[in-house]
Amino acid sequence: MATFFEEDLAPHGYAKHLILKSHIEAWLAIFTQSNYNHLVYIDGFAGAGRYGDGPGKPGSPLVFLSSWKKHRLYKNFPETLVILIEKDDENREKLTAAVEEYQQEERLKIKIFGGDFTSLLEKELDERQLHRQPILAFLDPFGYTQIPMTIIRRLMSYGKTDILINFMTHGLRRGIGISVRNAGLKEKINALFGDTDDRVQKAFLELKHENSRDVTRRLKFLTGSYESALKKKGGANYTIYFAMKGPKNDLIYHLFFATRHLKGQIVMKNSMYRARCSNDEELSFSDRDYFRFEHTNLAVKARKEIWLEAAAKKLKEKYAGQRVSVEEVEHYIWAETIFPFRKSIVTRAEPHRIVNEDGTPCKRKGSAPAGSMITFRSI
Ligand SMILES: C[S@@+](CC[C@H](N)C(=O)[O-])C[C@H]1O[C@@H](n2cnc3c(N)ncnc32)[C@H](O)[C@@H]1O
Repeated sequence: MATFFEEDLAPHGYAKHLILKSHIEAWLAIFTQSNYNHLVYIDGFAGAGRYGDGPGKPGSPLVFLSSWKKHRLYKNFPETLVILIEKDDENREKLTAAVEEYQQEERLKIKIFGGDFTSLLEKELDERQLHRQPILAFLDPFGYTQIPMTIIRRLMSYGKTDILINFMTHGLRRGIGISVRNAGLKEKINALFGDTDDRVQKAFLELKHENSRDVTRRLKFLTGSYESALKKKGGANYTIYFAMKGPKNDLIYHLFFATRHLKGQIVMKNSMYRARCSNDEELSFSDRDYFRFEHTNLAVKARKEIWLEAAAKKLKEKYAGQRVSVEEVEHYIWAETIFPFRKSIVTRAEPHRIVNEDGTPCKRKGSAPAGSMITFRSI
């Protein structure tokens, strides 16, 4: 049987890399233009570097390195430290060969480590002074037991940190059932959420007891619990997640993003919207929809209409009868909904009126310039 890296990437694997690549490109531009002297990329479960036969398709470390090398601002980049951690010896050997061509790059320091992600990264962080350096971490393990909340909290404490995590929701759902008879697993699931009291596991099993057929409710409970743990225990200010589904539209995992700064959230949300491939209410990609909708522009257009309308509905409900600034509206959409902010959302919410900062009516009907105040209709 072919191993994981000998197989070709499934469409949802490309979607994952597309989201990562799009975020990397924007992240490099933002922090290069803000004059930082160092950047740090951490790939905690780096893999073998390539997928498939021959030259193969790039794995996540190569997605980072090739985006770095081909970037329009490449010449201006500060020194970039790339930490790649891979436990498996064979994968690490392939990874070392795959990144070889980038080892000669000036301003690029690539460090490959063999062993367990958490203990190795803790040690590296003890030894290096990464404070105030922008960090982008991609944590893409096979299971759900390898990323304790303590390491997320530590990474977040550096300030300008963005973390993209593969959260194995489907596996976790099964694991909670098994953990009832497995104390070690119970402890690891506690660590994932930053708990010690089995809180999430107990509540999950209670939901199952109430209605064993309502899987959607239980999955929503897991994503909601992780999102709130990332904020309360992990120290993130903003989070967003994206569902990855298989050929039967069956959930495989969620990609979770956590950050301390709003700009990170904006950039990631735009990246996730680009990779989105369905009409679902949540942000998601599925292999089934990919094969159905590929190259169908109509579907893309229709999807845009649908989410713009859904975002406008959120605004109408949130601010019914209130007068608020366009800046508050924009922050609300970016920080508290699944939608990216677009000016046309305000127009679609059909506000009662929009006035300039000085109280005069806006010249262009429906436009909301900086500083303007929007009065929403009561519902
Ligand atoms: C899903 S794959 C990574 C794929 C890669 N991020 C990509 O997108 O190309 C997970 C990798 O983590 C490695 N791994 C498993 N347990 C680990 C651990 N505790 N620490 C570090 N690496 C680990 C596996 O050997 C495997 O190569």
